[in-house]
Amino acid sequence: MNKGFMVVFDGSNGAGKTTVIKSIEKYLTLKGLDVLLTREPGGTPIGEKIREVILEPSTPEMSFMTELMLFGAGRAQHIQEKIIPALAQGKIVISDRFDAATFSFQHFARGIDLETITKINDLALDGFSPNMNIILDLDPSEGLKRVHSRGEGLDRLEDEKSEFLVKARNGYLKQAEQSPHKFEVIDASQSKEAVLEDVIKVIDSLLSSFHASSHDNHA
Ligand code: TMP
Repeated sequence: MNKGFMVVFDGSNGAGKTTVIKSIEKYLTLKGLDVLLTREPGGTPIGEKIREVILEPSTPEMSFMTELMLFGAGRAQHIQEKIIPALAQGKIVISDRFDAATFSFQHFARGIDLETITKINDLALDGFSPNMNIILDLDPSEGLKRVHSRGEGLDRLEDEKSEFLVKARNGYLKQAEQSPHKFEVIDASQSKEAVLEDVIKVIDSLLSSFHASSHDNHA
């Protein structure tokens, strides 16, 4: 049985995931909790190599199915090599994106049918599921402005038409609507301080329900 739990930060590109994740890591560490930060695509040596292949802007010819299977391959490795062992040690795993991104980008934005996405995702997940997805929601055109203002180049997916990123954003909102117990949507157009405050509320309530359920298990 897992002693730890896993929270995923996801949402529009440029919504401020990295900054929020660093602050939350600090917040939890100060409480004496053991935190493991990770990301997708990536998270393991194999996953990071897969990430390079997926995001390489000079290969626009990558087929949608290849892309989907590469995300799935990286996720399978990530779960077995890194996430399951960390949870078994009682760590709080925080991942910058995870399986909800596949539904948003490969299904809602790319248009791959749900059955195929679910098949590949289920193979990768092998019964695993994160405890919570925190979606930092932002208009993608605003997100891309932020990416540009940081002086960063666009990866292969960010380089898609704006309509693609709008569909991906709506994909997150639809998933949140369908599974409210697994998703929290935070308005990322607010100030950094307000976003962090909202995120901390979610994290605190997760911590208390997690503590309550671990007490129940020991009772
Ligand atoms: P990042 O910008 O958060 O590092 O994520 C890299 C890109 O990969 C981002 O555009 C979202 C995309 N992505 C998918 O299309 N499907 C997935 O399953 C994951 C994890 C990410």
